[in-house]
Amino acid sequence: MNARPEQLAAPTRLDAYRAPAWRVETVELDFDLAIDTTEVTARLHLRRDPAQTQPLRLDGENLELLSITLDGTTLPPDAFRYASNVLEVDGARDGSVLETRVRLRPAANTALEGLYLSGSAEAGFLLTQCEAEGFRHITFFPDRPDVQARYTVTLRADRDRFPVLLAGGNPDGAGVLDDGRHWARFADPHPKPSYLFAVVAGRLQSIERDYVTAEGRAVTLKIWSEADVIDRCDYAMDALERSMRWDEQTYGRNYDLDVFHVVATHDFNMGAMENKGLNIFNAKYLLADPDSSTDDEYRHVESVIAHEYFHNWSGNRVTCRDWFQLSLKEGLTVFREQSFSADMNSTSLKRIEDVSLLRRAQFPEDAGPLAHPVRPAQYSEINNFYTATVYEKGAELVRMLAGRLGPEGFRRGMDLYFARNDGRAATLEDFLGALGEANHTDLGPYLAWYGQAGTPRLHAHGEYDEARRSYALTLRQHTPATSGQPQKQALPIPVKLALFDDDGRMTALHLDGQTAKPQTECVVVLEADEQTFIFRGVPTAPVPSLLRGFSAPVILEYDYDATELALLLRHDPDGFNRWEASQQLATLAYVELRDGGASHALEAWLDALSVLFAHNDVEPALLANLLTPPSEVEWAEREASVDPARIHALRQQLQRQLAERIGAEALHQRYLALAGEASLSLDAASQARRRLKQRVLELLCLIDPGVAQPLAATQYASAPGMTDRLGALMALLRSDAAQAPAALAHYRQRYADNALALDKWFMAQAQVPGETALDRVLTLERDASFTLKNPNRVQSLLGAFVRANPSGFHRADGAGYRFLAERLVQLDALNPQVAARLATAFNGWQRLEPGRREAARRVIEDLANREGLSRNLREIVANVRK
Ligand code: PHE
Ligand code: ZN
Repeated sequence: MNARPEQLAAPTRLDAYRAPAWRVETVELDFDLAIDTTEVTARLHLRRDPAQTQPLRLDGENLELLSITLDGTTLPPDAFRYASNVLEVDGARDGSVLETRVRLRPAANTALEGLYLSGSAEAGFLLTQCEAEGFRHITFFPDRPDVQARYTVTLRADRDRFPVLLAGGNPDGAGVLDDGRHWARFADPHPKPSYLFAVVAGRLQSIERDYVTAEGRAVTLKIWSEADVIDRCDYAMDALERSMRWDEQTYGRNYDLDVFHVVATHDFNMGAMENKGLNIFNAKYLLADPDSSTDDEYRHVESVIAHEYFHNWSGNRVTCRDWFQLSLKEGLTVFREQSFSADMNSTSLKRIEDVSLLRRAQFPEDAGPLAHPVRPAQYSEINNFYTATVYEKGAELVRMLAGRLGPEGFRRGMDLYFARNDGRAATLEDFLGALGEANHTDLGPYLAWYGQAGTPRLHAHGEYDEARRSYALTLRQHTPATSGQPQKQALPIPVKLALFDDDGRMTALHLDGQTAKPQTECVVVLEADEQTFIFRGVPTAPVPSLLRGFSAPVILEYDYDATELALLLRHDPDGFNRWEASQQLATLAYVELRDGGASHALEAWLDALSVLFAHNDVEPALLANLLTPPSEVEWAEREASVDPARIHALRQQLQRQLAERIGAEALHQRYLALAGEASLSLDAASQARRRLKQRVLELLCLIDPGVAQPLAATQYASAPGMTDRLGALMALLRSDAAQAPAALAHYRQRYADNALALDKWFMAQAQVPGETALDRVLTLERDASFTLKNPNRVQSLLGAFVRANPSGFHRADGAGYRFLAERLVQLDALNPQVAARLATAFNGWQRLEPGRREAARRVIEDLANREGLSRNLREIVANVRK
C-alpha cells in the first residue's frame, strides 16, 4: 500500500443541527474594488442566543485580515484567533458591533467561488458567487442559511474601469469621489442568508423594461452583459416578464423590490444563481439569438430564467434552515419551473424531457455508490450535493404531493406555506406540514421519500376474472439496498392508471370501495409492501396503462407483451404515455436483439412506428420522440455486466432497422417536405418540424448516406439558424461524411468570436461515438480556444465526452479512464467544484464488464490514493470507489 490518503474531514450531519449561537441583525459592507486586490470592510451587528454560551465564531476562508475592532476598539492580538477557517473573537456580547477589514485577490481566484474575475484583467468584470459557502471567501461571517441579516452594501471603484456597480436590494445613493473613483450604495430591506448576497462591477451594458406587479409595485427589470452580446438578451427579458406574470397568476406571488437585475457571465460553475435582486447567469442560459442558439437552448433560457425568478419566493423569502433542506428550495423550484414550461409550451413534451433527464441522470445516481436521499443525512462538501437527486427527484416528490392534493388543494397548501414561513429558514417538515394542514391531511408518510435513497421498483400484476367481470391489480414495491442504507421501508406510491380494451378504448373505472363518479383514469396509492385493487364491471381482459404521466419516480415492472405495448403506443390519448409505451417496446426489442431470441417486440415496434410515420397524423415533435429509442445510458442501467460498445452497436442496429422499415424513400420525401417549410420562427409548430426533420435526417443517414449526406451538407450551408446548422453538422459527423471536415472548419471560423457557439463545436465532436473519440478529444484540446479555466469549455469537451459518449469514454483499453483521471487532477488545482462534478462520470464502474471494470478500478484507486486533492474531489472519488 502507498501512503494513506488524507482522511476526509469529519462530515456535517443533519442530526447534529443546532440553532446559531450568534446571529447578525444588520451588516454594512464596504468594498474597495480592483481586479488584483479588493478590500472589504464588514460591520456586523450581533445578537447572541441567551440560551447558548459559545464564544463568537465566524467562518472565513483564505482571508487576509487587515484589521479588527469590537465595539469601536481595535482588538489586541490575543483577543482573537484565526485558524482552520474560523475566526474566534473574545469579549463579544449581545448587541456588539464587530468590524473586520480583509484583503481579497479576485484575479487569482480560479475556483469561481467568492469574489472573482470574469474574462480578462483588461476587459473583464468582477462578480461574486456565494451559494453554498462562498460568502466566507469574502468576509468573516456566520456563513449558514439560518442567519438572516439586513444588508447595506457600498461599492467604491475606479470610474473608468468599473462604470457599473451593482449589489442586491434597492439603490440607496451613488456619487463621485475625487480620485477618479465613484461609489454606489444598495440597501436590501429583506433579511437574507449570506448565500444570496451578490455584487457585480465592471463595464457592462444593459437592456431595461418597466414592469408593474399585480399588487401595483413599479419595478425596473434590467439585464446586463458585456457589450458584444447585449443584443442577445431580449429573449431572456421576455421570458422574465412571462415568469413574473405566471407566478402572480399561479401562486399569487409578486416581486418585492424596486429593481430586478440579471447579469450574464461566461465564467460560472453552475447554470445560474438566484441572488436576491441580482440574479447571475451562466451566459449559456441567458443569451439567445437564432444564429447561435438552438431551439433547445431557447427553451433552456426560458426555464432557467423562470427557475431563478421563482426562487425569489421558494428559496429567498422562505429559505432553508440548513443545507440538508436544499431540496426544499430546489425540488420545489424545479417543480414550479416545470409547470411553467409546460404551460408555455407543451405539457406532454415537457414531461417527456423531464422524465428522460431523470432516467439518464438521476436513476444511475440512485442505483450506484453515489446514491443519497433527497435529504441527505450527511455530507463532507456541500457543493457535491447539488445533484440530480436533490433537484430532479426532489421535483418529482413535490409533483406527487401536488397530485395528491389536486390543483386547488396544492395552491391552498402553498399559500399557507408561504404565509407561515415568510422570512424564515424552514425545513421539509415545515413544507409538508403546511401542505397537509391546509388540506386537513397528514402528509407525514411522504417524508419517508425524503430520507430514503434508491429508486423503488414497482411490480404490477393483473388478473382478469371473466365470470365476475372484475380485474384485480396487485402492486408490490421493493427498494434495493443502497450504500449505508441496507433496510428500506414501504413508501406511498401514487399510481395513475387507465384500462384499455382490445380496440384501444379506455374503460370506465369502478374501483372497489370508491364512491366518486367513475372516470376513465384514476389514481390508486400503494401504501404498503403489497396491495390489490379490484375493478368491477370490466367488459374484457384489459391492457393497463400504468403510472400515467409518470405519477411516481419509480421503475415499473409489468410483464407487458409486445401486442399490449403496441396497442398503447397506437391508442393512448396521453402523449406522455404513448411515448412511454414506445420506450418500453423499444427496450423489449433491444433485449430480443441482445439475446438473439424471438423478434416479436422488434416486429411490433417497427410495425407500430412505421404505421404512425406513414399516417402522418401525430404531432411532429411527439413523433420525433416516438422514433427515438431510450438512451445508451438507460439501457446500461438494465445490465449486470455493461459493455457500452455493444449497447451502442445494438442501438444503432435497432435504429437502422427502424429506418429500413419506414423506407429510405419515405424518409427522403418527409425530409424534403419538412425542409421546404423551413423558417426561423420559434413558435411550437416550427420547432416541432425542425425536430422531426432532424430525426428523419439521422435515420436516413443510417441507411442511405449517399442521399442523406448531401442533404445534410446543403442544410448546413443554407441553414437559417443554429438548430438546422448544428443538426446538419452533427449528422455529417456521425455518419462520417466526406463533407464533415469542411463544415467543421467553416463553423470553427465563422464562430471564432462566439464562445457559446464554439462550445457546441467542441461538444458535437466530443460526442461522436466509438473507439476513436479519445483521439479526437486530445486533438481538440490543442485548439487555441480550449482552456481548462472555463467551466463551459470543460463541459463542452470533457463533460460531453465522459458523460454523453459512453462508447467513446469506456474504451476497452481503459485509456478514457486514465485520460479523465489526469484531467481531474489538473482541473482540481484550478476549480475543485468543476473537477468533482466531472468525476461523477466514474459512477457505475462496478457494473462494467470485467475488463473495463478492472481498468476503471485501477484508475480510481490511484486517484483515491493521491495526496493534495480538494475536499470536493476527494469526497466524490472516495464515494464512487465504494
Ligand atoms: N441555486 C442555484 C440554482 O439552482 C444553483 C447554484 C448552486 C448556483 C450553487 C451556484 C452555486 O438555481
Ligand atoms: Zn435552483
